Amino acid sequence: NSEVFILAIESSCDDTAAAVLHNNKVVSNIVANQLIHNQYGGVVPELASRAHQQNIVPVIDAALRKANIQKEQLSAIAFTQGPGLMGSLLVGSSFAKSLALALQIPLIAVNHMHAHILAHFIDEEGFDKPEFPFLALTISGGHTQIVRVDGFFNMTIIGETTDDAVGEAFDKSAKILGLPYPGGPLVDKYAQLGNPKAFAFTKPKVPGLDFSFSGLKTAILYFIKKNKLENPNFIEENRDDICASIQHTIIEILMDKLKLAVKETGITQIAIGGGVSANSGIRNTLKEAEKKYGWTTFIPKFEYTTDNAAMIGIVGYQKYLHQQFEDSSVVSKARIQF
Ligand code: KG4
Ligand code: ZN
Repeated sequence: NSEVFILAIESSCDDTAAAVLHNNKVVSNIVANQLIHNQYGGVVPELASRAHQQNIVPVIDAALRKANIQKEQLSAIAFTQGPGLMGSLLVGSSFAKSLALALQIPLIAVNHMHAHILAHFIDEEGFDKPEFPFLALTISGGHTQIVRVDGFFNMTIIGETTDDAVGEAFDKSAKILGLPYPGGPLVDKYAQLGNPKAFAFTKPKVPGLDFSFSGLKTAILYFIKKNKLENPNFIEENRDDICASIQHTIIEILMDKLKLAVKETGITQIAIGGGVSANSGIRNTLKEAEKKYGWTTFIPKFEYTTDNAAMIGIVGYQKYLHQQFEDSSVVSKARIQF
């Protein structure tokens, strides 16, 4: 089994992505971002599926060329079954089914959320792999989950958001400050220049390991409105401090729940994934937690944290080894049982 080549396709949201894996190593990883959505301040599903339709063939072609392999060498095709936008998922799954049929090779369906977590098992120089069991914190524009991972196919969600995802909390706060979409990276940038204790925002009271971020957005909105009444230039004069304080609050919300999860499970290996794990404050806080609490933390290579097909490919490889294949009647699922 040492010569497994998986072509992986990801199209769950607004990125069209394809990757080729040779066993657990990535040999090509191509992503076409859809910048069209930025002018609308969020992903427009109808536009996303149309862009996938345009991008999918060139992206897959580029992934195969970069990998420098013939499609006849492929062992299987893996694709994202869900969760995601239905119109977007359908483009990837239809293409995957057709190609698997044409090449007479197995078809593998992958859960996007499993992939964000198992991306840590891509063989990459300088990056350690976690050992089972570990805790995974998946944070992006669409997800906020704490997952207990006992094996490749044995995971349990132990906490998740009850409303907005953490990326949305960043983006919506940024919007209130007049920053362009997606504002998360800009909040991060300005936060590095500001005082995280300048302003205090109340943290939500959510029982157990679940999260809530919609209250924070409202609190920020009222805070800005009130201060702008007194000083119309409030945002301009305090931008860095406001961003630092918002980011500090979001990190505290995440860390409070992680600490509780560690306490409840006794597991001290923490792996993070999703676009928000690019955040410098979150990275620094997790590094500090290694010394402070004795945790071992895992942060994957940046290109495997945001939506990508390499993470679909590593799950595809594991499923290939376990012969977990689908027939062509497999359907896309906007919501999917974990
Ligand atoms: O994983 P991702 O690329 O796409 C999905 O949502 O699935 O995550 C995008 C999210 C956006 O909300 C974006 O603002 C946020 O990740 N993000 C950040 C940073 N970089 C990306 N949020 C805070 N700090 C960052 N440095
Ligand atoms: Zn994602």
